[in-house]
Amino acid sequence: YFIGVDLGTSAVKLLLVNENGNVVHEVSKSYPLIQEKTGFSEQNPQDWVDQTIEGLSEMMKTFKGNPEDIEGMSFSGQMHGLVLLDEDNEVLRHAILWNDTRTTAQCEKIYETIGEDRLLKITKNPALEGFTLPKLMWVKENEPDLFEKAKTFVLPKDYLRYKLTGNVHMEYSDAAGTLLLDVMNREWSEQMCDTFGIHSSLCPPLIESTTDVGSVTSEITEETGISKETSVIAGGADNACGAVGSGILSEGKTFCSIGTSGVVLSYEKDGDKNFDGKVHYFNHGAPGAYYTMGVTLSAGNSLRWFKDVFAENEDFDTMLQEVDTVPAGSNGLLFTPYLDGERTPHADAAVRASFIGMDSSHQRKDFVRAVLEGITFSLHESIEIFRESGKTIDTIISIGGGAKNEVWLQMQADIFNANIVKLKSEQGPGMGAAMLAAYGSGAFTSLQECADIFIREEKVFKPDAERVEKYKELFRIYQDVYLNTN
Ligand code: XUL
Repeated sequence: YFIGVDLGTSAVKLLLVNENGNVVHEVSKSYPLIQEKTGFSEQNPQDWVDQTIEGLSEMMKTFKGNPEDIEGMSFSGQMHGLVLLDEDNEVLRHAILWNDTRTTAQCEKIYETIGEDRLLKITKNPALEGFTLPKLMWVKENEPDLFEKAKTFVLPKDYLRYKLTGNVHMEYSDAAGTLLLDVMNREWSEQMCDTFGIHSSLCPPLIESTTDVGSVTSEITEETGISKETSVIAGGADNACGAVGSGILSEGKTFCSIGTSGVVLSYEKDGDKNFDGKVHYFNHGAPGAYYTMGVTLSAGNSLRWFKDVFAENEDFDTMLQEVDTVPAGSNGLLFTPYLDGERTPHADAAVRASFIGMDSSHQRKDFVRAVLEGITFSLHESIEIFRESGKTIDTIISIGGGAKNEVWLQMQADIFNANIVKLKSEQGPGMGAAMLAAYGSGAFTSLQECADIFIREEKVFKPDAERVEKYKELFRIYQDVYLNTN
């Protein structure tokens, strides 16, 4: 057996998975977001630890086998969150999370000081408010006494792993989202650290996602029942674990994940391609590999917004029921999903959403279809960036809430002009963490071997030539909306 711990933004989810990849037990424990001011988003790292320990104890109480039968445990985590530790490894302040937006001034300073070209060359990514370096700079400027006391910084799931094992590390896939890592050369960037006054001793030792870091401490064994025989494996960023958990492990593999936000992620063998910062470029959970990733900020969130405002008393299935009676193109109605700004390709926090082309014949179902199409067009922008770089994308694994509706899956096939694969019992990043645990603890000789057993396809949706053509035309109009209004 293997345990995958997925430390998310609203809850920690724990999966107990057997050697065939079947989930035999699942526990979820939530914790609050702390939002003291507009744009602030923090969490108390102690909540992550307490809730994980409670979840693990609960899991072990229902586990019928010997604790030693659990060969490995690993982690997936929300990215970018800053956890500052003092010389005794005590937490100095609440963690500042990935969705905190207080650091616009620090991002501007990063561009002014080092320049976009050099920033992209070293970190492969743009300076976004969510990333970790701007947060370190914010603390340094606004809480200098506290910053003085900082001995090291870690990311959320690295902190959790430290509290379970007593060893402080950071692994590459999460370090890639700090803006302090030389992503291609896989080492902390002295130039980035020096330029922004971050003493390099603040950066913890780097390890692979699959590294065995030892076992849990005696206290944790006592509190949870997890055996000292269970190997603790480093784990990865949630998107890297999502990639592992849906089998994005070789060139040409891509997934599209539609949750609150939407992600298109594609495997990269090498770290030296150039996307000009238009998409994220991070180290993979698979050792030595990389992935590129585009983000639609309001994906499922656009649909939830529409439901809350126009279909309050219905569930999603009822609201989506009639969508297949509306033709591709929603009878001339077009939606751009920029409800809270957009990341890819515009990196524009100020842009807002729109419905275009309304006429008096439109019914609610036309609007619902237009929302689905608008979200999918936004994700298609990322796919087009990948294709323009020379990638062949003919098959895409669809995961998350957007993979639950067959009309939407067919729409993805028609808009992306690719085969869309729906997986059987898809479990996202938690399954990726369990797979890292399985490979890292030596149960498989490669992640791919593990994926061949753990990941199963359920159905393939093929693009329809006529609708592909129709959507190509509409996509150009969709792109024009942003270009002509901004
Ligand atoms: C990635 C990102 C999010 C967080 C949320 O850049 O900000 O996907 O990892 O979990």
